[in-house]
Amino acid sequence: MVLPLILLNYKTYLQGTGQGAVEIAKACRAVSEESGIEIAVAPQIPDIYRVALEVELPIFSQHLDGIGAGSFTGHIFGKCIKEAGAVGTLINHSERRLTLAEIEASLKAAKELGLRTVICTNNVPTTVAAAALGPDYVAIEPPELIGSGIPVSKADPEVVSDSVEAVAKINPGVKVLCGAGISKGEDLRAALDLGSQGVLLASGIVKAANPRAALEDLIRLV
Ligand code: G3P
Repeated sequence: MVLPLILLNYKTYLQGTGQGAVEIAKACRAVSEESGIEIAVAPQIPDIYRVALEVELPIFSQHLDGIGAGSFTGHIFGKCIKEAGAVGTLINHSERRLTLAEIEASLKAAKELGLRTVICTNNVPTTVAAAALGPDYVAIEPPELIGSGIPVSKADPEVVSDSVEAVAKINPGVKVLCGAGISKGEDLRAALDLGSQGVLLASGIVKAANPRAALEDLIRLV
């Protein structure tokens, strides 16, 4: 059995800001070590360096611009997030929408640096388009379920299985994650049973009273 990827997006939640970013990463690291399952985090970009200094686990950026060194004030430069300690990046998100051209440029910049890439999508057609670009992962997240506590793997199983099927046709090397409302062991189990290779999740863990206990519950049926 191939173990899934659990990718925890901190968004801008207060609980995952500053030192909170480190504490949640420590919980992820502990659960990853005891289970053997890869758990990666996507803290806010200014927190990447502090997390990398204190916790050994895969860190993703929440965003990366398709630019290089030079006159790009206010942009996120891939080389800088890599130097900070990131090994990958999210690209596009329902909360940070990019144009297709921007997605392609971000992906190219990330690939040139050897960063792992996850393009987030909102439905099956955009998942197909994203997969055609050749990221490592696409992450399908219906926007209406994001932050709802209602798991996509139960509320809209077809969007997951149809994405898995469509990606296998267009670009079989691309792995599919799903996300939105995932927080419990049965949500992850259902996601894997639908053919996804992991989950991208946020509020169910970052906002939990005890993130480590929430993570232990999440992986208990893998
Ligand atoms: O990127 C993860 C995300 O949008 C899902 O959020 O809070 O529904 O797990 P959440």
